[in-house]
Amino acid sequence: MDILNFGSLNLDLVYAVDHFVRAGETLSSDSLTYFCGGKGLNQSLALARAGLTVSHAGCIGADGKRLTALLRQAGVDTAFVQTVSQPTGHAIIQVDRTGQNCILLFGGANRSIDEDWARQVICDSDGGWLLLQNEINGLQPMIETAHDRNMRIAFNPSPVTPELRSLPLQLIDCFLVNEIEGEALTGKSQPEAILNAFQMLYPAAAVVLTCGSGGAYFADAQTRVYQPAFETRVVDTTGAGDTFTGYFLAGYSRGVSPAVCMRTAAMAASIAVSSPGAGDSIPRQERVEQALRAMGHSAV
Ligand code: RIB
Repeated sequence: MDILNFGSLNLDLVYAVDHFVRAGETLSSDSLTYFCGGKGLNQSLALARAGLTVSHAGCIGADGKRLTALLRQAGVDTAFVQTVSQPTGHAIIQVDRTGQNCILLFGGANRSIDEDWARQVICDSDGGWLLLQNEINGLQPMIETAHDRNMRIAFNPSPVTPELRSLPLQLIDCFLVNEIEGEALTGKSQPEAILNAFQMLYPAAAVVLTCGSGGAYFADAQTRVYQPAFETRVVDTTGAGDTFTGYFLAGYSRGVSPAVCMRTAAMAASIAVSSPGAGDSIPRQERVEQALRAMGHSAV
């Protein structure tokens, strides 16, 4: 196994709306569609579709079997997904006419992870990398256990919560953040300032900063890369960041150069935003390579 992803699994209830509902307003939606999601699940799908061998760990309720079925269909090992007595986590997602989204989360089973079990899973796994997001409980013992086992750790600190800063972030090898998460962790709002602050705070870590249509940045002690976003027709941005994360890490964890990883991830994310849903919109590697070749870029 290349990577262990300990992360959330959600049922996504996606409502098409004219605009996001405002305080005090009652708004009729145009449609409701059920998708598989959760930042954890989405990122496992992206890693697997990018060609990595992935093991997903996490918790669902009895109502979450379609989530593990989708992961298995994509080739992800789900032996470390536990069914617990809590209901499966879910997300209420509004997608407006421009394809932008806003998301309300219910943690459910994602937040009932037993910490001793989590430590055991990490000890039993043979992955070189551990990937985490911030939609589950128990991150501190997971980070510490993975570090003790000499695993490399990638962290997508999403969503931002007040507890984030108390995690042992100095043990992280690669941060993957958007502008909101970057600002929450550094206090800076401009991309270059966010990258500089990350390098001051965590000099041994690499950081990937995604800025939607503003492109994405990579920085580590040796290199800085800027990757513009590929232009596309935006249908639904849900899961675009997860697609970027999975595709970036798939290359980076195999030693591919950051510039190539960023270009491949940007293309994968641009394809993901052109169709609805989160997990369902994540493209396979062949499609990403085909799109890159069509633009004159060599594929990884
Ligand atoms: O990043 C998109 C994801 O965020 C959705 O699939 C939703 O479940 C929330 O976790």
